[in-house]
Amino acid sequence: MTRAVIRGTGHYLPERVVPNAEFEAKVETSDEWIRSRTGIEQRHFAAPGQTTSDLAIRAAQAALDDAGMTAAEIEAIIVATSTPDFTFPSVATMVQAGLGSTAGFAFDVQAVCAGFVFALAQANALIVSGQAARVLVIGAETFSRIMDWNDRTTCVLFGDGAGAVVLEAQPGAGTPADRGILAADLNSDGRHRELLYVDGGVSSTGTAGVLKMQGNAVFKHAVQKLAETAHRALDKAGLTPADVDWIVPHQANLRIITATADRMGVPMERVVVTVQTHGNTSAASIPLALSVGRQRGQIKAGDLVVTEAIGGGLAWGSVVLRW
Ligand code: UT7
Repeated sequence: MTRAVIRGTGHYLPERVVPNAEFEAKVETSDEWIRSRTGIEQRHFAAPGQTTSDLAIRAAQAALDDAGMTAAEIEAIIVATSTPDFTFPSVATMVQAGLGSTAGFAFDVQAVCAGFVFALAQANALIVSGQAARVLVIGAETFSRIMDWNDRTTCVLFGDGAGAVVLEAQPGAGTPADRGILAADLNSDGRHRELLYVDGGVSSTGTAGVLKMQGNAVFKHAVQKLAETAHRALDKAGLTPADVDWIVPHQANLRIITATADRMGVPMERVVVTVQTHGNTSAASIPLALSVGRQRGQIKAGDLVVTEAIGGGLAWGSVVLRW
């Protein structure tokens, strides 16, 4: 059977680093509160005029370089984002043009913080069904553009950035020992819309809007649903948490990451954590963590990796893959 194998990773973070202390002057908060409640110490913010597609193109080029491929070899580009440059065209088509390619097709996926997991599952479906042999999957966000800077409960949490992976079709034996994506578990429940949303949009207000979140309620859903979806994906792959070499979770809150690892019975030494330096970069957080985890020497060929994420919708899911 055909498997979708990761051939390269890359990421890009905007130059401007914003430490927690910067928020102390703007809202009633403290470095101590942000660190102890979230684990976040700093985040990156895009420069004025720097857009989501700019970040995505930088991350994509880095992933192509890592894979030793050119953009012309890529047959599909998927960008997971909730903060596109424009209402349309898709960021993915802008990335395609930015990479100087006219090959294949490109489209965006919008599942907020779970976007990269959803996009990875779509890329897998394209590869396994034979529609594309090499797929570039990018998570890219500029959440700094949808913050309410007077709302201390949200503005301290998010950051900007982009991460990318190159997937390629390779033959597998159809066993859990194969390299590549082994299983995916995707979920959504639109009844929880009010827990995490942006209060503007094209066909409602005609504005971009700002992010609103009932953090504590989302926290409770996250702790329960992330471990459940990871267990289901492992089960579909014929594996158990004991087989896991690395959890690469959505980086929203260190306490959620720790609680999920705990529920899965996986020690924190086997979890890639980047939330301290990136903050919550929504759909970019997992590909950023995959790329940084590779650079740190944490993830190696043959390792079993579980990614899991939850975000607005609610939408949540997990992908199990062997590096
Ligand atoms: O990525 C998409 C998914 N999103 C998430 O996974 C986020 C999930 N939620 C969270 O990470 C956490 O709920 C937060 C970090 C957002 C908040 O932490 P919490 O422990 O759930 O705090 P809380 O919302 O229950 O608020 C506790 C207190 C409140 O004050 P009172 O009502 O106890 O007086 C808040 O007003 O902390 C207050 N607070 C702050 N204090 C200082 C909220 N934000 C801040 C702040 N600085 N920035």
